[in-house]
Amino acid sequence: MKRIAVVASGRGSNFQAIIDAIGRGTVPAECIALITDNPKAYAIERAQKAGIPCRVIDYRTFPSREVYERALLSTMQDVNADLFVLAGYMRILGSSIVRAFPGKMVNIHPALLPCFTGLHAQRQAVQHGVKVAGCTVHFVDESLDGGPIILQRCVPVLEADDEDALAERILEQEHIAFPEAIRLFCEDRLVIDGRKVRIR
Ligand code: GRF
Repeated sequence: MKRIAVVASGRGSNFQAIIDAIGRGTVPAECIALITDNPKAYAIERAQKAGIPCRVIDYRTFPSREVYERALLSTMQDVNADLFVLAGYMRILGSSIVRAFPGKMVNIHPALLPCFTGLHAQRQAVQHGVKVAGCTVHFVDESLDGGPIILQRCVPVLEADDEDALAERILEQEHIAFPEAIRLFCEDRLVIDGRKVRIR
């Protein structure tokens, strides 16, 4: 049984989908911690309800990004998970953290990467007029949303869609894709082969 830790900044609906999938027995993992940079994150309530220990590293209480990142790194080392799951962590992780956990960190992004990296991916998709959007689960490397792709799910973009409507439809797919990718990791079925991930 793998030990996973979730890193989240906000409402934590993906975190909840992971908690639920573990609860159903679909994902062979134990969620050993929630780590958050935001003491007001709704994800904290979700952790409490599920009995998952929560570590708050309040970004605003640190004098600089460097000092914050050192605290975050040492918390992550202390938690010592097999996999760190970035589920709506709204900051860019510094390279010292990314390098500390090679192949042990995954992220979900609300676009079909490599399109629409960074913030407001759904808005970018609507503005660009793409006909298909979706979400991507990928390993984290030092590039922005550019690590090896584990899996993707698509949704159609409808003519009436605004950013929020599209985001909602993508989110439904995120809640399927993320637990599925974590399951594959926990079953030791993901092999990173250069830029690509092979599923065995
Ligand atoms: C999701 O859209 C995810 O793709 C992005 O941040 C959002 C987090 O939502 N990285 P939630 O906090 O899991 O509800």
